[in-house]
Amino acid sequence: MLQSPRLTVYIETYGCQMNVSDTELMLGKLAEAGYESVEQPDGADVILINTCAIRDHAEQRVIGRLGEMKSRMKRDAVLGVTGCMAQRLGSQLLDRARHVSLVIGPDSYRDLPSLIDSARGGVRTTATEFDLEEHYEDFRPRRFEGVKAWIPVQRGCDYKCTYCIVPTTRGPERSRQLSDVLRETEAVVASGISEIVLLGQTVNSYFDGQHDFADLLRAVGEVDGVRRLRFTSPHPNDFSQRVIRAIAETGACCEHVHLPMQSGSTRTLKRMLRRYTRERYLECVAELRSAIPDLALTTDIIVGFPGETEVDFEETLTAVQQVGFDDAYTFKFSLRDGTAATRFPAADTVPDEVASDRLARLIATVRAGTREQNLRLLGERREVLVEKAARRGGLLQSRTRDFKTVMIPGNVSLIGRYLTVELTGTTGSTFIGKVAAHRTELPLAV
Ligand code: 5AD
Ligand code: SF4
Repeated sequence: MLQSPRLTVYIETYGCQMNVSDTELMLGKLAEAGYESVEQPDGADVILINTCAIRDHAEQRVIGRLGEMKSRMKRDAVLGVTGCMAQRLGSQLLDRARHVSLVIGPDSYRDLPSLIDSARGGVRTTATEFDLEEHYEDFRPRRFEGVKAWIPVQRGCDYKCTYCIVPTTRGPERSRQLSDVLRETEAVVASGISEIVLLGQTVNSYFDGQHDFADLLRAVGEVDGVRRLRFTSPHPNDFSQRVIRAIAETGACCEHVHLPMQSGSTRTLKRMLRRYTRERYLECVAELRSAIPDLALTTDIIVGFPGETEVDFEETLTAVQQVGFDDAYTFKFSLRDGTAATRFPAADTVPDEVASDRLARLIATVRAGTREQNLRLLGERREVLVEKAARRGGLLQSRTRDFKTVMIPGNVSLIGRYLTVELTGTTGSTFIGKVAAHRTELPLAV
C-alpha cells in the first residue's frame, strides 16, 4: 500500500523571544502529530504566522506578509495567524482576510493539530481563550538554537504599563513549577546545550506558590552541565535583595542584566505606570553593580510617550549617560488600541517629527556610550561561547558572558565550544577577537 506523504508546516515568527519559544513548542507539537517542518511557505500544507502586537509597525509587517501569502500558498493550504496579534484582533482577522482560516492565541496551541484538521475540512476557527493553567509542560519543543536553550518559566504579565499591549495579549501572570523547569533544564543539558535563558515577561517576579526567582536561579544554576545562565526580561521593582544575592552567588549566572528603563524622567515613568522613579531605577542599578562586579547592563527605552517634554527627554539622555549602558533597544512610542495610553488627551501626543528627532538623538547617545565602553575593553581576554557562523566574512559569531558579540576566525566545528579570545578590535558595537586558547570543552551533542 502507498503511504500518504507527511503534511508539511511552515512557521514564520515575529516579535520577542517568548514568541520564538512558542514557535519551538508549536513545531514540537506538530512534529508529534506527524508534520514535517519546512523552511519556505511555498508548497507547505500549513502556514502559520506567529505574530507580535507590541508596535503598529510589527502588525503592519504581518498584514503585508498575509497579503503576500495569498499568491504564494498552494490552493488547499491552511493559513493560520497565531500569537499576540491573533489574540488582539481575534475573529476580525477572519473577516478581514478570507484566505486565513485559523486565528489562535498564545494559550491555545495545545489544540493546534485538531484545529488544523478542521481547517483542512473547511472550518474557520478563532481560539483566543486564556488558560491560566497552560504551560505546555508535556510539549517537546523543537529548538532552533544548537548552543543555548530558551526556557519559558512564566507566561503573561500583571503589570499594567500604560503603553503596553502585552497584558491584553498574553493575559495574567502565571509561573511554571520549579520542578518542571528543572526537568526541562536537565533534558536540555543532556542534549549537549550548556547555556540556559529563562524567559518571562517580568521574569524576576517568578513565584510558583512556593519558590521565588532567587530559588529558581539557584536551582537551575546547580544543574550539572549548566555553564551559563541568563534571564529576560526583569522588572526593576522585582529585584529584591534575595534575587540580587542569588545572581551574585550563582556561578553560572552571567554578568549581564537586561534592565528595561523605558524613560529617565520620573514624570514620564509615572504616566507610563512603571511604578519606579528615575532615582529608584538608578538605585537598582547601583545595587546590582555593587553585588555583581563587572556587570554589563542593557535596556529598553521608549521616546515620544504622550506628554513627554523636551526636559523629560533630556532626563532620559542623562540617565543613559549616567548608567553607561552597554547597549539599548530604542523605540518610538506606538499607540496601541486597548492600552491606557489611549486615554491621554490628544494634546499630549508628541508629533512624529519630534519623536523621530528624539529617537535619533537617543540612538547617537547610546552608540557613543557603547563605543566608549567597548574601546575600554580592547586588549582584554574573555571566555566566549561560539554560537554560529556569522552572516559575512567567513567568521564565527561568539558571545562573552557579559553579552558582547565577538567575531572570530575559525571553522564551524567550533560551534558550541568555549574558547578564550583576546578582544583585538571593535566596530563600536561588536568585537573582533583572536583565539587565545581552546578552553575546557564540554562534550557536544551526540
Ligand atoms: N510603543 C513602543 N515601544 C513599546 N514597547 C512596548 N510597548 C511599546 C509601545 N506601545 C517596548 C518597551 C518594551 C519593549 C519590549 O518594547 O520598551 O520593553
Ligand atoms: Fe508590558 Fe510593562 Fe508588562 Fe513589560 S511589564 S510586558 S512593558 S506591561
